[in-house]
Amino acid sequence: MDGVVRVERAGRQSIGDAEFDGFVKLRPEGERYFACGERTAGLEKTGTRQVFWNVDPPAGHTASFNNLYTSIPFVLCLHEGRAHGVFYDHPGRIELDLAKADPGRVTVEASDDLKVYVLLGPTPAAVLERYTALTGRTPMPPLWALGNQQSRWSYMDADEVRSIAAEFRARSIPCDVVYLDIDHMDGYRVFTWSDERFPDPAGLIASLREDGFRVVTITDPGVKVDESYDVYVTGRDGGFFCLTADGEEYQNVVWPGMCAFPDFTNPAVREWWGAQHSVLTDAGVAGVWCDMNEPAMFVPRQSTMPEDVVHPGGGRARTHAEVHNAYGSLMAEAARGGLARLRPDARPFVISRAGYAGLQQHALQWTGDNSSWWEHLWMSMPQLQNLGLSGIAWSGVDVGGFFGDCDGELLARWTEFGIFQPFCRNHSAMGTARQEPWAFGEPWESLCRAMLELRMQLVPYLYTAFEECHRTGAPILRPLLFDHPDDPVTYTADDEFLLGSSILVAPITRPGIEHRYVYLPAGSWAHWWTGEVIEGPAHILAHAPLGQPAVYVRSNTPLPLYPALQHTGEVPDSLTWRVFVGGSASGSSSLYEDAGDGYGPSCRRTAHVERDGELVRFTLSGREGSYVPPYPSLVEFVGHERVEVEETGQALVIERFMKNAD
Ligand code: GLC
Repeated sequence: MDGVVRVERAGRQSIGDAEFDGFVKLRPEGERYFACGERTAGLEKTGTRQVFWNVDPPAGHTASFNNLYTSIPFVLCLHEGRAHGVFYDHPGRIELDLAKADPGRVTVEASDDLKVYVLLGPTPAAVLERYTALTGRTPMPPLWALGNQQSRWSYMDADEVRSIAAEFRARSIPCDVVYLDIDHMDGYRVFTWSDERFPDPAGLIASLREDGFRVVTITDPGVKVDESYDVYVTGRDGGFFCLTADGEEYQNVVWPGMCAFPDFTNPAVREWWGAQHSVLTDAGVAGVWCDMNEPAMFVPRQSTMPEDVVHPGGGRARTHAEVHNAYGSLMAEAARGGLARLRPDARPFVISRAGYAGLQQHALQWTGDNSSWWEHLWMSMPQLQNLGLSGIAWSGVDVGGFFGDCDGELLARWTEFGIFQPFCRNHSAMGTARQEPWAFGEPWESLCRAMLELRMQLVPYLYTAFEECHRTGAPILRPLLFDHPDDPVTYTADDEFLLGSSILVAPITRPGIEHRYVYLPAGSWAHWWTGEVIEGPAHILAHAPLGQPAVYVRSNTPLPLYPALQHTGEVPDSLTWRVFVGGSASGSSSLYEDAGDGYGPSCRRTAHVERDGELVRFTLSGREGSYVPPYPSLVEFVGHERVEVEETGQALVIERFMKNAD
């Protein structure tokens, strides 16, 4: 594979910018380390020890927790503005010392079947392109997956689900998806429905669908040990479960009580598991949410499978220790394969809590059980940026926080951040304060509505970023250093980020505060709410009152926007290219469009803005590709400068000026 080089176990080697002595990486002075997957602390990892071992951590994880649900032993190295990556490939336990014990060395501890790869740069984009060529790319999501999503542990019955959906529409708050957590099942038996609480799932889902909602259901790997339960009996008879070292069925307690656990390392088990999803797809379920797949066990409390458990593997037996971190990815792979076979014309939608490097091929990742704390709102930013730098671009945290009670201000500020996540879902735990967007009354409800409307406007921009990610591995929500690796100030910009390459977001993460410090890297940046243009690099104090998060757009770079739809199934009456006019630089961006699901034709257009004194020249390319969207395009200029509009020769000071683009 071009630009991907395997490191030899012994001997001195230099590979691109990297020097190795066996698997020991020699560190040139000043080299800095990033990525490492799902992490709670900031962006920079230089001088730390990183443990890769999936766990279901106790509630209230903080920056002192190192390893969480997902393990991605991948390091992005930056030195003098040049990047390369190192991927330590082994699905058992790995520990990396990133120049902590010895500032001159990066060392690894893992079992013998470790493979080490260098991904050549010189840009972070080139490294991510190579890393995802090796480990797999994010598939195109269905368009509805970009809409707002609402969850709760649990919406307890069909009536409650109907009433939640009805509230969204009655209050004109955008929403595409409602989630069913574990209480939709019969005694938490995976792939069943509770007869009392969900007597007619197909009827429920069909009626929600008419209102523009999709339904996603949770699945857990633990299969209840129950002689009268078909999934258990077929799994046991097929020899599909993990075994103890003595060859007995390995059992432990999870939600349903005593459970057996599928051996997802066996391709036949993945196929069998995938086929079980027909219980869900027959009822019209749109996607699945794979949870507890570290795998999490209740005995001892918050534990995982013992290391000597055997995965028979359909002929290639391995201990759990050898494959632990891959369990979650393999479950997600089984789910995705099942959905693809059951509904070949629809793009599968799978969420996973746990996984290993390459999880991005099978599922998006949500970051599990955060808490309704301002600290966790802050933590979400580096966490998603670290994931994005590690190949997992399709990700999100529970908006509003899972454990503990949210409040109106926290929910509003969290939504101001949440709408910029690739996956935007509000979810909360049983027994906590309700946190649907209207739960805390006004002004919070209106603030959440306005933010979710902005999310819906951004859908064409986001969808284009997803397509770029699908093709190149570029993160969607990304650290500033991804686009500015030669600017070391960006290396510690943990609490602001880029969405695609044109939008910079700097959320407020403390109560009662309206101002914050923002770093704008090189370029000319327009403030989203006022159109004011600031030349970077600059450290500024941003005013971000509630409802106006600090968002900046590269000026003269056209942004494709929809009107604020209630859900992605609505057909917009137009698409608008918004240009924040300012500075002298020219800018371009592209737009990817297709039918929003399936595998049919697509098209791409490029919009370009050029400054020539007072003249702002906007050009839109013809469509490449045969898909024709059912709406016209407009262009909107926003700014404070005196500009001339090309066709008419008319000069005006623009505040907001619209014209047809097609
Ligand atoms: C786990 C999940 C959480 C879910 C709960 C009940 O804690 O992380 O999202 O709501 O289980 O299924």
